[in-house]
Amino acid sequence: MSTNTVKAERVRIFDTTLRDGEQSPGAAMTLEEKIEVAEYLDGMGVDIIEAGFPISSQGDFEAVSEIARRVKNAAVCGLARAGFKDIDRAGAAVKAAKRPRIHTFISTSPVHMKHKLQMGANAVLDAVGASVAYARKLVDDVQWSAEDATRTEHDFLCRCVELAIRSGATTINIPDTVGYATPQEFFELIAMLKNRVPNIDQAVIATHCHNDLGLAVGNSLAGVLAGARQVECTINGIGERAGNAALEEIVMALKVRGDRMPFATGINTSMLARASKLVSNVTGFPVQFNKAIVGKNAFSHESGIHQDGMLKNVETYEIMRPEDVGVKETSLVLGKLSGRHAFRKKLEQLGYHLADAAVEDAFRRFKDLADKKKVFDEDIVALVDDEIVHRQDTIVMKALKVECGIGFAPACEMTLDVEGEERRVKTTGDGPVDAIFRAIREAYPHEATLEVYQVGAVTAGTDAQANVNVRLAEDGRTVTGKGADTDTLVASAHAYVNALNKLLVKRKKQAPEALNVAR
Ligand code: KIV
Ligand code: ZN
Repeated sequence: MSTNTVKAERVRIFDTTLRDGEQSPGAAMTLEEKIEVAEYLDGMGVDIIEAGFPISSQGDFEAVSEIARRVKNAAVCGLARAGFKDIDRAGAAVKAAKRPRIHTFISTSPVHMKHKLQMGANAVLDAVGASVAYARKLVDDVQWSAEDATRTEHDFLCRCVELAIRSGATTINIPDTVGYATPQEFFELIAMLKNRVPNIDQAVIATHCHNDLGLAVGNSLAGVLAGARQVECTINGIGERAGNAALEEIVMALKVRGDRMPFATGINTSMLARASKLVSNVTGFPVQFNKAIVGKNAFSHESGIHQDGMLKNVETYEIMRPEDVGVKETSLVLGKLSGRHAFRKKLEQLGYHLADAAVEDAFRRFKDLADKKKVFDEDIVALVDDEIVHRQDTIVMKALKVECGIGFAPACEMTLDVEGEERRVKTTGDGPVDAIFRAIREAYPHEATLEVYQVGAVTAGTDAQANVNVRLAEDGRTVTGKGADTDTLVASAHAYVNALNKLLVKRKKQAPEALNVAR
């Protein structure tokens, strides 16, 4: 294991899980979920939180505004295209933040300028100067991005960057929008800007790498080695298409390999595993088992040779300790005799700081669960996340009875409460899950199509809680609902109803205009 011998220079972590990450199809989060993620990121030591794209919808505007009010330490950033209306909206949304930032961008590559913007080079240059200067009238901290920078001609990129800095940009972001760059090439691009742009020392250079070739983390680190001092990334690497650079991988690579990359971040790395679970829960995107740092298998050793080595000395096969990223052995800590005080303490240890009413609700559900099975930390996490997810539901499942087996048609009886009105239905289906989903459709008719139905277990064992994800699509909108219960069929019904509730929230939000943004 390496040790840090050289004095580490600081690299800022810019998290865009709530903006670029949320834009992944099906990853939409509710306001409450976004606030919970933002507060967690703030507590973990993220330097800048990009909370959303305020002009894209009323919902995004409200989320950015609320996050700006609540975040205590991090800068809160809102995205804006180069137009004044976008910038005004972003400025208004981040106004209440302790450290407000506006992030404005425009495409600079020939292919984007010609086909997407239908603008010539001079018009783009004018827009760069005007948008940055306008944003600087609203806030002191302005970030400018050259969208599709890695496919931009170098001379033109240098002119744009120089002008953005002259107009007041304090951070210059160099996105690999389409995930096309290689690490060597990205290193050279940042080095080229450092060498050729005369005023480059007046701004922080940032990387924003997409993962289409699986190179997002490598490219970001190459950028840091060349002189970038801000890395844009998302928890679990979520984001449009193949996603963005994964925050946990960037942070741990810098921490573990400080001998080759002497840079420090402000991240409390023991909070990474929980951040990953939180984002996976609220988006419904499972984390790949072998995902670096936060995957279920990242610290498991299966083969006999590895296990033997580990028993002799952990450094034989482990380059970092599981506890460095917040991974610990599953522990059985609470039982049905545990009281409120112990439960509240446990919640705090797991990173939850809930209001009294929410603790009370979670405690009641914990007691119900403890009557049925042993309760592990993971069960408590599932139970509290589930409670947060269901708090503002329009449709609530009141009763469910399912019959299935050999020799008769699977049948379902269900009662839904739709804003106070009770709707009772009886259906049959091709299987019990089909019968349940048909019952929901009958009680609450809708056109959404089922895109994903996924079942997993929260812990090991046959008494484990089932964790179900359901993704629905309707008119270009996608939502993912989740449900957890010891009964897989009940969890499935909860997940579908949750997706439907999210869809209702999304239907209410109307985009003010068609947005054409690279993510
Ligand atoms: O990928 C990209 O270019 C972006 C910009 C809006 C920064 O997300
Ligand atoms: Zn992006």
